[in-house]
Amino acid sequence: MAEFSQKQYMEDVAQIMAVRARGPQPMAFVHTYGCQQNVADGEKIKGQLEEMGFGFTDDVNEADFILFNTCAIREHAEDRVFGNVGALKNVKRRHPSVLIALCGCMMEQEHVAERIRKSFPYVNLVFGTHVIHKFPELMFRMLTDGRRVFERGDDSEDQQIVEGLPIHRDGNVRAWCTVMYGCDNFCSYCIVPYVRGRERSRSPQAILEEFTGLVQAGYKDITLLGQNVNSYGKHREEGVNFSALLRMLDEVEGDYRIRFMTSHPKDATHELIDTIAQGKHISHHLHLPFQSGNNRVLREMNRGYTREKYLDLIAYAKDKIPDLSLTSDIIVGFPGETYEEFLDTVDLIRRVEFTSLYTFIYSPRVGTRAAKMDDPIPAEEKTKWFQELCAVQEQIAARRCAAAVGTVQRVLVEEQNEKTGLLTGRTDGNVVVDFPGDASRIGTFADVRVIAARNWILRGELEEAND
Ligand code: 5AD
Ligand code: SF4
Repeated sequence: MAEFSQKQYMEDVAQIMAVRARGPQPMAFVHTYGCQQNVADGEKIKGQLEEMGFGFTDDVNEADFILFNTCAIREHAEDRVFGNVGALKNVKRRHPSVLIALCGCMMEQEHVAERIRKSFPYVNLVFGTHVIHKFPELMFRMLTDGRRVFERGDDSEDQQIVEGLPIHRDGNVRAWCTVMYGCDNFCSYCIVPYVRGRERSRSPQAILEEFTGLVQAGYKDITLLGQNVNSYGKHREEGVNFSALLRMLDEVEGDYRIRFMTSHPKDATHELIDTIAQGKHISHHLHLPFQSGNNRVLREMNRGYTREKYLDLIAYAKDKIPDLSLTSDIIVGFPGETYEEFLDTVDLIRRVEFTSLYTFIYSPRVGTRAAKMDDPIPAEEKTKWFQELCAVQEQIAARRCAAAVGTVQRVLVEEQNEKTGLLTGRTDGNVVVDFPGDASRIGTFADVRVIAARNWILRGELEEAND
């Protein structure tokens, strides 16, 4: 573990930017694509920008510095980034002094960095996920070298965790707390192990400190993050596994909820389920991606479990936690998947009855094993399967929502909807509920009686109002 040590660079950049800025304060536009892990990285980058004297703007035309924190998980995500970077050409033309930077998972891929180098000459700084803790130094080089800066980090940096980075948190009700970085699983379709490096866990002490600070600051819904949280602690000497970590955090006094993502079925244990069941603050919500319901496809995906093992684990979990809310990720149209094999996935979602699903059509990623496999099924066919699956899940979700009508749910109030004026929040199971109420309730828990269900959203009324 290393400590963040960029103070001098931050001061130097602050001085330079104070002169360069078009307005009284240098302004940054930061946009993060992709998963929660990327959002958490984005908050660390914003924390550093803040310490370098930046304010934040939602308008690219007002910005002195524009940064896209990118996602590489599917081609569609990458295409959006390339499109949006292309559009910055006009911003640069209007405001030639604007500085443009790209970071995140896409930038860890050599072929992407190459494309930026060649086709987007107005991008000033490109850096990968391993060097976020060197961001002020990279900014300094960009401002003083007179050249474009490209930095991806080397193997030693890949292995280390740097503690103590400043964090600019976007919300004040929900917060993210990273417990581990990277992934060692190498599922055959997935780019993550290549762009986020090997698994490494933060120390239980560092996590406990951050977590306690969040509870004391009033955060009410804290999500522990990692690509595969269930392998937390594997390479550390303290002997604290993920369940033990959860129990330790659960002891922190306060009125809050703990969530975590993502769990891998091959590493999710009965101990984990028991820990959720016995926890005081741990949400009865488990995001457990199964990707495919067919054993041959699971083997080809290198997932390390079978459909039977997954269903056994779900049966155990439902038995121990009857009100457990389950969500999952699914890939439709993995190379070589047949329609019959796809139907095993549909069958599995019928059996489990998930609260909601994140469903994706397979997207080949350069450098992964699956990208080299034969993929004979045409895109239109895969789209039909995808729609078929979504239709089945919609029925299941609608049925589950309808069954919730009449129940009283503990809802964490997050915001007031600008259009409807209704308060919106989430149940323990992560289902969205709308209800009339006063904005002063934002950031508190409320007991809400569900009175109607619309698709995935519940409509409710405050329980106290009926007293
Ligand atoms: N194509 C489609 N979906 C993918 N995912 C990961 N890689 C790919 C890919 N190449 C999905 C998985 C994962 C989620 C975060 O994204 O379902 O769980
Ligand atoms: Fe990708 Fe598999 Fe790691 Fe998840 S567990 S990040 S799907 S390689």
